[in-house]
Amino acid sequence: MDRRPELRFRNSMETPLARDAVEATAQFPIPPGVFAETVTEVVHYTDRLFRFRMTRPASFRFRSGEFVMIGLPNALKPVFRAYSITSPSWDDELEFFSIKVPGGPLTEHLKAIQPGDTVLMRRKPTGTLVNDALLSGERVYMFSTGTGIAPFASLVRDPETYEKFDRVILTHTCRDVAELKFGLELVETVRNDPLVGEFAGDRLIHYPTVTREAFVRTGRITEHLESGKLFEFLGLPVLAPETDRAMICGSMAMLRDTKRLVEGFGLTEGANSAPSTYVVERAFVD
Ligand SMILES: Cc1cc2nc3c(=O)[nH]c(=O)nc-3n(C[C@H](O)[C@H](O)[C@H](O)COP(=O)(O)OP(=O)(O)OC[C@H]3O[C@@H](n4cnc5c(N)ncnc54)[C@H](O)[C@@H]3O)c2cc1C
Ligand SMILES: NC(=O)c1ccc[n+]([C@@H]2O[C@H](COP(=O)([O-])OP(=O)(O)OC[C@H]3O[C@@H](n4cnc5c(N)ncnc54)[C@H](OP(=O)(O)O)[C@@H]3O)[C@@H](O)[C@H]2O)c1
Repeated sequence: MDRRPELRFRNSMETPLARDAVEATAQFPIPPGVFAETVTEVVHYTDRLFRFRMTRPASFRFRSGEFVMIGLPNALKPVFRAYSITSPSWDDELEFFSIKVPGGPLTEHLKAIQPGDTVLMRRKPTGTLVNDALLSGERVYMFSTGTGIAPFASLVRDPETYEKFDRVILTHTCRDVAELKFGLELVETVRNDPLVGEFAGDRLIHYPTVTREAFVRTGRITEHLESGKLFEFLGLPVLAPETDRAMICGSMAMLRDTKRLVEGFGLTEGANSAPSTYVVERAFVD
C-alpha cells in the first residue's frame, strides 16, 4: 500500500523518497554499542543546510568542540559520518548543523528527519578543537567556513571558553548571505542567553564574510588576515603567539591556507597531548 499521502512533511525540501527511507527504519535492529536518540527539532536554512536537536543519553559526556559519528537506523550496516556537536557540553540535548549533499550516502536521508525519528550515535566523542588543546591567552580566533562553524557553535556557548580567553572572535565565511544564518542566530542567542550571555557580553565578536554575493563584508578570511583588514576592523593588534590563539575549521584548502597564515604570525600547532597556540580540524573530507 502506498503510504505517502499520509506522511507529514515539514517543508517542501523533503522528498517522499528520502522520507520513506527514514520511515523504513523500524525494520532494522539498532546496532550494538551505539546510542539510539530521538530527534526533537529540525530547522532548515537553505536547500544545502539544516540543523537538528536530539535527546542526549544520560551517560554521554563530551568536551565542547568535539565530534561524534552519527547515522540512521535504515540499514543492517548503517553509514556513519563525523559530526561536530554544536551544542555546549552543559546542554540537556545534542544539536548538529548539517550539509545536505545531493546523493550523499548519509545526508540524502538525514535531511528528511523529523521530530520523533531515531538518530544513531557512536559512543566516543573526539576532536582537537577543544579548549584543552590550546594554551591560555588573551584572545582566541575561531576561523570557520561553511559548516566549519559547527564546533565553534559549541565553544562560544561554553562559559569555560570565556574563563580561558578575554576575547572570542568568531569568523564565518560562506559563499552567500543565506548560509550565514545559522551563525547569525547563534551569536544572537548567545548574547541573550541568561547563563552564557553574562560571560560573553561584548567579549564575543562575530566577523561574518561572504564571497559570492554583495554583503557588508566580502572576501575570504584568508584575504582579510593577509591584508590586515581583520585587525583594522577589530581595532586589535595582529596575531602574536604571546597573546593570541587560533582554531581553524573548514575545507582542506581553507585549512592549508589559513594554517600557513597563522604560522606566518608565529603560532604553532597544538594537540590534546601537547597544547600550543593553534589547532585545526577538517569540516569535511575532500
Ligand atoms: C571531523 C569531521 C567533522 C565533521 N562535522 C560535520 C558537521 O558538523 N556538519 C556537517 O554537515 N558535516 C560534517 N562533516 C562531514 C560529514 O562527516 C559528512 O561528510 C557529511 O555529512 C556528508 O555525508 P554524506 O554521507 O551525505 O556524503 P559524503 O560521502 O560524506 O560526502 C560527499 C561529498 O560532499 C561534500 N561534503 C561533505 N560534507 C560536507 C560539508 N560539511 N560541507 C560541504 N561539503 C561537504 C564533499 O565534497 C564530499 O566529498 C565532518 C567531517 C569530519 C571529518
Ligand atoms: N549546489 C550548490 O548550490 C552548491 C553551493 C555551494 C557549494 N556547493 C558544493 O559544496 C561543496 C562545499 O561548498 P561550501 O560552500 O560549503 O564550502 P567551500 O567551497 O569551502 O566554501 C565556503 C567558503 O570558504 C571559502 N573558501 C574556499 N576555499 C578557501 C580557502 N582556500 N581559503 C579561505 N577560504 C576559502 C569560499 O570562498 P570562495 O567563494 O571564494 O570559494 C566560501 O566563501 C563544494 O564541493 C561545492 O561544489 C554546491
